[in-house]
Amino acid sequence: MPASGSDPSGQSARDLTHHLEGLVPELETVLAATASDQELEAVRVQFLGRKGRLSGIMSELPKLAPDQRPLVGQIANQIKSRLQALVDQRLSRLKQDKELKVLTYFDPSLPGLTAWQGSLHPITLVTEEICAAFGSLGFELVEGPELETDFHNFEALNLPPDHPARDMQDTFYITENTLLRTHTSPLQVRTMLRKRPPLAAIAPGKVYRRDSDLTHTPMFHQIEGFLVDTDVSMTDLRGTLTAFVHKIFEPKTVVRFRPSFFPFTEPSAEVDISCMLCGGSGQSAGAPCRVCKQTGWLEILGCGMIDPAVFTAVGYDAELYTGFAFGLGVERVAMLKYGIGDLRMFFENDVRFVSQFA
Ligand code: DAH
Repeated sequence: MPASGSDPSGQSARDLTHHLEGLVPELETVLAATASDQELEAVRVQFLGRKGRLSGIMSELPKLAPDQRPLVGQIANQIKSRLQALVDQRLSRLKQDKELKVLTYFDPSLPGLTAWQGSLHPITLVTEEICAAFGSLGFELVEGPELETDFHNFEALNLPPDHPARDMQDTFYITENTLLRTHTSPLQVRTMLRKRPPLAAIAPGKVYRRDSDLTHTPMFHQIEGFLVDTDVSMTDLRGTLTAFVHKIFEPKTVVRFRPSFFPFTEPSAEVDISCMLCGGSGQSAGAPCRVCKQTGWLEILGCGMIDPAVFTAVGYDAELYTGFAFGLGVERVAMLKYGIGDLRMFFENDVRFVSQFA
C-alpha cells in the first residue's frame, strides 16, 4: 500500500489532519480569553463559521486523492463536534460566572434586615388606657366633630355670647357660628341631646386653641367624662376619679380636690395628684423637685357637678337630674405618666421617641 501520499498542490492527508487537530488547542486558548457572549460568538464564527478556520481547511479536501477524502472528512467532522463542544462549554461557564457575580452582591447567607416594628403613639396609648379604665366602670365611648357650632362648644355649656369666661379660650373661628372645638365638653351637649339619663360616657378627641409656645400647641388632646342620673353627688365624682387615678398611676398616689371655677359645673374643682417623682415631699434627691416645682402636687384635671343651666339647654329636667363631669389633657397625663419633659416631643414624630413605647 502506498504511503498516504502527496497530491499536486502539495497538501497531504497528513497535513490536513494535522491542521484540523491543531484547531482544538488553538480554540481552547482563544476561548479562555473570552469574557462575554459577544466575544464568544465572534470566536465561534472565526472557527466554525461559513468562512471560518474549519471551512478553510475543509475547502482543501477536494485536492486530496479521492481515496483519502472519506477518512479526512470523517476526522474533520469529529473535530467540528469537538470545537462545537468547547464553545458550548465556554458558554455555560460564562453563564455560571454571571450568576456568581450576582451572588457576590446578593449574599443569601447574610442575616435579613430587621423590619421596623411599628408602635402606637404615646398619646394613643394613654387615650386608649384611660378610655378602657372608664369603659370598665361602665362608661360608653362617644365621639363628635372637631368642627363645632358655637351652641355646642359655648352656649349650651353656660357660656352665652359676651360671657367673660369665653376669654379663657382663644378660639379658631371658621365662621361666626362655627369653630374648631376648644374642648371636648361639647360632647356632653351632643350626648345629652341624643339620650335620656341615666348615662355615663367617655369622650376623647382633638381640640384646638390659638396658643403656641413651649407648653402649648394649637392642637392637643382631651378626654371628657360625664355621668347623669337622679341622685348623683360629689361623692360619686370623688370615688370615680380616685379609682381612675389609681388605675392609671401608682395605687399609692394621693388624690386632692381643690375648689375651682368652670361655667358648666357648679361646684367645680381641680384634681391634683401627689407628685410621682418626689412622692409629695417637694424634695427629690436632696434638691427641690423639678416635676412639681416643690409643691408636692400635680394638677391633672378639671371637674364638677354639671350646672343646671346645661341640663336646661339640652332639655333635661334640672330639678330631677344631677350629674358630674370632668375633662383632662391627654398630653399632660402622658408627660406625667412617662416622665416626658417636653410637650413638643409628641408632635415631632421622631421614630426614636415613638418606638420607645412599643
Ligand atoms: N373643658 C375644660 C377645659 O377645656 C375642662 C373641663 C373642666 C371639663 C371641668 C369638664 C369639667 O367637664 O367639669 O379646660
